[in-house]
Amino acid sequence: MQHTTSYNDKVVRQFAVMTVIWGIVGMLVGVVIAAQLVWPELNAGPYFHFGRLRPLHTNAVIFAFGGCALFATSYYVVQRTCHTRLWGGPLIPFTFWGWQAVILLAAVTLPLGITQGKEYAELEWPIDVLIALVWIAYAVVFFGTIARRTVSHIYVANWFYGAFIIAVALLHIVNSAAVPVSLSKSFSVYAGAQDAMVQWWYGHNAVGFFLTAGFLGMMYYFVPKQAGRPVYSYRLSIVHFWALIFTYMWAGPHHLHYTALPDWTQSVGMVFSLILLAPSWGGMINGIMTLSGAWHKLRDDPILKFLVTSLSFYGMSTFEGPMMAIKSVNALSHYTDWTVGHVHSGALGWVAMVSIGSIYFLLPRLFGRSEMYAPGMVTVHFWLATIGTVLYIASMWIAGVMQGLMWRAINADGTLAYSFVEGVKGSYPFWAIRWLGGVFFLSGMLLMAWNMFRTIAAGKVAPVPVVAAAGHH
Ligand code: HEM
Ligand code: HEM
Repeated sequence: MQHTTSYNDKVVRQFAVMTVIWGIVGMLVGVVIAAQLVWPELNAGPYFHFGRLRPLHTNAVIFAFGGCALFATSYYVVQRTCHTRLWGGPLIPFTFWGWQAVILLAAVTLPLGITQGKEYAELEWPIDVLIALVWIAYAVVFFGTIARRTVSHIYVANWFYGAFIIAVALLHIVNSAAVPVSLSKSFSVYAGAQDAMVQWWYGHNAVGFFLTAGFLGMMYYFVPKQAGRPVYSYRLSIVHFWALIFTYMWAGPHHLHYTALPDWTQSVGMVFSLILLAPSWGGMINGIMTLSGAWHKLRDDPILKFLVTSLSFYGMSTFEGPMMAIKSVNALSHYTDWTVGHVHSGALGWVAMVSIGSIYFLLPRLFGRSEMYAPGMVTVHFWLATIGTVLYIASMWIAGVMQGLMWRAINADGTLAYSFVEGVKGSYPFWAIRWLGGVFFLSGMLLMAWNMFRTIAAGKVAPVPVVAAAGHH
């Protein structure tokens, strides 16, 4: 039967194309809000005000762009490594269309100001219910496929994707628990310090599982594939997995230093954040060292460039994060643009770059071509993305440290040396550079879209037969 002998690549194609589209939309909104900070006149109220567009940006880049990249790659990888077709019948298209519906509902409700007011969990309860349904369907499809694998081994990439799927279900359902009062308004079941604690247990693990674990799944499949080398150390990958998922769960309170949270919980958060450096770097080293013996490929392979650079940024942001989790450092960095710089070294440098590299790997294979329509343009995209990221994070680091130092500077008589608005004025040049960095990064995505559509137009979709279990994937 046709459907048992070929991979289900249709859903992978759908999610891959939408990754690029939502990447452009989310980053365009990022460029717009970056411009609003430089030119305040651009705040067109009330629907297109910074306060309404900022959550639209974060939701679009994390859940629409990042989410589609995770769906596309996990569905591809689980089939290839389990030597079986994706299982789940109608649940499979439901995950695609359901997720697109969530994104469209977010795009309408957030500018309207309909929000639960919890960062990264803004969407109101009816959308939350839809997210939970899509996510449960995703889990059934993913684990159902693993259960029907024709090889006994479960490749490590699937461990990371699996942990990401289970953890996100848990985080989302617990943190979104609310009492609805109307279709567009609900109240969290938690209150006060507990609410904050649950929210940042969710928020930090959204970083650990949504923005990290699934993307490590990508690393463990696409880096060895593109380098043509086995994973540097399979044993390290297992230690990496258990250490990472155990440690992340305890680090959330580092988002709430010097708040009403009990002091000991803040210290627990800080200590676990410092420990987190070890598994993060273990994973990064495992990825980078996979290139041993294949370093020369880095010279002219733009996909490898994307993947390896993403790992370098992953290493950087997971060094910076534990430092910022130290209470005395956080006393300087919190509320400043340093945090925003840290976020984007992870988001642009790591999450976006590893996704872009993986999607470039997939597109020709999904659309029946040996390579992208314009391979040279992939290299151009790589440089646009790298320059954009560096402009973004370097400007935010300088602005952030400057803001922190200005806010705490005092005169000999104990009065503040600077008024708040002086810090804002001093930040303008750096906000302009950040905006420019965003323009670079976004232009790279537009180039990718052009290249993708030319590849699709020149390609021919054909079913790919499932590799027999004895074969090497
Ligand atoms: C070992 C790993 C990491 C640790 C210990 C860590 C630690 C931290 C700390 C201390 C903050 C500042 C909290 C505050 O002052 O409000 C922060 C913020 C943040 N980090 Fe990390 N980080 C790590 C890795 C990453 C990575 C890889 C990403 C992205 C892919 C990321 C995304 C974020 C985000 C989105 C925020 C901002 C949250 C908000 O206030 O909205 N982090 N992180
Ligand atoms: C063209 C690229 C991008 C630009 C120009 C951009 C711009 C911005 C701006 C201006 C902010 C608000 C900062 C503030 O409140 O002061 C922001 C916040 C944020 N962006 Fe982006 N962004 C881009 C790409 C991304 C991507 C790809 C991701 C995730 C994968 C991301 C995740 C976030 C997050 C999590 C925040 C909230 C940070 C926090 O609360 O500390 N951004 N972005």
